[in-house]
Amino acid sequence: MEEDLLRLKEEAVAALAASGKDELEPFRVKYLGRKGLFTSVMRQLGQASAEDRPRLGKLANDIKQELELSFAARLEELGGGKTGGGPRLDLTLPGRTEPCGRPHPVTQVMEEVCGIFEGLGFTVAEGPDVETDFYNFEALNIPPHHPARDMHDTFYVSDALLLRTHTSPMQIRAMTEQQPPLRMIAPGKVYRCDSDITHTPMFHQVEGFLVDRKVSFADLKGVLSVFIAKMFHHDTAIRFRPSFFPFTEPSAEVDIGCVICGGKGCRVCKQTGWLEILGAGMIDPAVFAKVGYDSEQYSGFAFGLGIERIAMLKYGITDIRLYYENDLRFLSQF
Ligand code: FA5
Repeated sequence: MEEDLLRLKEEAVAALAASGKDELEPFRVKYLGRKGLFTSVMRQLGQASAEDRPRLGKLANDIKQELELSFAARLEELGGGKTGGGPRLDLTLPGRTEPCGRPHPVTQVMEEVCGIFEGLGFTVAEGPDVETDFYNFEALNIPPHHPARDMHDTFYVSDALLLRTHTSPMQIRAMTEQQPPLRMIAPGKVYRCDSDITHTPMFHQVEGFLVDRKVSFADLKGVLSVFIAKMFHHDTAIRFRPSFFPFTEPSAEVDIGCVICGGKGCRVCKQTGWLEILGAGMIDPAVFAKVGYDSEQYSGFAFGLGIERIAMLKYGITDIRLYYENDLRFLSQF
């Protein structure tokens, strides 16, 4: 039987070498097919002695494998992939799916935030990223050399032009163009020379402001409470902490109960149980004076929130820089 196997191998190798493209399928049927010569020699294995059977079995398998590999190589060589005249298709393979793009998580959260305020009757305004010193600082009650300028780590384009450090200049642009009542939000990109796990040099803010007669801090609190309940959870804890902005008086920073630990204290909230999400306050009469509004007749509130920060809390993301590394493994989760 050993001789039969070796002879068959020799014959098959020679036949394969001599086969043209059209002879390959007949070759496969004749030698390697289920009813082929090789199978019939293998059937004789049962007649071999128990002692010889393992060795002969191994030899037969080795030769068959070798022939199958040579066959595949020859098929490739002759520009194959085809036997029997038809394409070799594996109809059980799953189809190719085209990866589908989707909005960036920051864009998704931006749209959600704007949607909530639009639902509360705020209109949307947009302004330039390259801003003048006047709108970004001066008109917001931050004169040259005011210490508040240091907090903004500004990118200057020239002496009088800069990349806006917040969306608050949109308060001035709107108020110099329109008379009260005003109820607006201004979403957009802002820039600061700042980078760590909670700061990026470019990030997004949404400014909100409302000016009318008899607007009070209670109105600000009401609007922000509705926003936070809709954005997070209806019973998310909320806290107003006294703060300072040159363009609001009084000013506050608004914290929410940590959404990661539920207020118990964790690494994200630095064990305080609270997370800061925005700055806010009543518009300072000095700002009204710059835009020609009568602060005896009108009052208003303003707030500015950071979208990346809100998205981090919503999705439990602990490093803000992940948003801007363009890693599809991260982005495709949203
Ligand atoms: C301001 O920018 C004020 N203009 C907000 C304001 C508007 C106050 C209207 C009063 C009235 P602040 O610098 O705290 O404030 O920034 C507001 C929010 O932007 C922060 O709460 C934070 O969520 C986000 N933020 C600030 N710096 C960065 C940064 N480098 N990267 C990402 N988010 C930031």
